[in-house]
Amino acid sequence: MITVDSVAGLRDQVTRLRQGGKRVAFVPTMGNLHAGHLRLMQEARQHAQVVVASIYLNPLQFGQDEDFDAYPRTPAHDKVALLSAGVDILFKPAEAEIYPRGHAAQTFIEVPGLSHDLCGAFRPKHFRGVATVVHRLFHMVAPDVAIFGKKDYQQWLIIRLMAADLGLPIEIVGVDTVREADGLALSSRNHYLSAVERKLAPALHETLCGLRDRVQRHGSVTTEAEEAAMESLKSHGFRPDYVSVRRQEDLAKPRPEDRRLVALAAAWLGNTRLIDNVEFES
Ligand code: PAJ
Repeated sequence: MITVDSVAGLRDQVTRLRQGGKRVAFVPTMGNLHAGHLRLMQEARQHAQVVVASIYLNPLQFGQDEDFDAYPRTPAHDKVALLSAGVDILFKPAEAEIYPRGHAAQTFIEVPGLSHDLCGAFRPKHFRGVATVVHRLFHMVAPDVAIFGKKDYQQWLIIRLMAADLGLPIEIVGVDTVREADGLALSSRNHYLSAVERKLAPALHETLCGLRDRVQRHGSVTTEAEEAAMESLKSHGFRPDYVSVRRQEDLAKPRPEDRRLVALAAAWLGNTRLIDNVEFES
């Protein structure tokens, strides 16, 4: 595995490895890698002969009172993990490579509508920060395909919309969520949980599965079902931001004839904000 920290170095290596018409897959991350990230690397290998991963903790997608400073940084562990996952190039850009004129002067990529719904309603500038950095990374790596986790369902959809709106010649692939044995979705933020909170945390996934079952039984989505799921989360010690059943294709509120749905939630356990979702057919 070759590690590069400059765009010039990255372009040299990608150009060298893609010779002979090889396809390039790209997996952007913020580091502190776990089995969910590594599953994305495996998926990347299914789509391309060259796999590029990036590690960049993007300040632009964190709100002022959010956890940018506390976010776990584990560079030595990450490098070993990517090496054993068979990644060809690790791109660890320096801050100045990504935002040469600083954050305040940055040109933003803003995907309208969806960026301000669900998580976006609670984290107003988050998806603007995500779309901006992913677009920039796409431009630097110039991959044929990019791999994202469906754990961040809204992010995955926003990146697909961005790629479509800007006509980017990049296939966007989504990968199913990797979970602990008790159902908790793997996340770097799980490290923040106390032992007691960690025991409570699987209730997020259980609640979404319960909501799915209820919608499937009744054959329709009701506000009562969503409110009952909010109450269930509260009874397990969560402070929910939202629980909502949406259409898989665009995260709009479902019409009665919509069958392909996803139940999504974001909820706080102490100082930790967890998100999860469950796709289903009704
Ligand atoms: P990060 O949280 O590091 O996640 C990197 C990728 O791993 C994302 O596509 C995310 O959806 C995926 N992922 C995380 N946990 C997963 C799990 N349990 N199962 C499957 N995939 C999982 O998401 C980001 O970074 C950033 O917003 C980024 C896209 C890198 C832009 O800064």
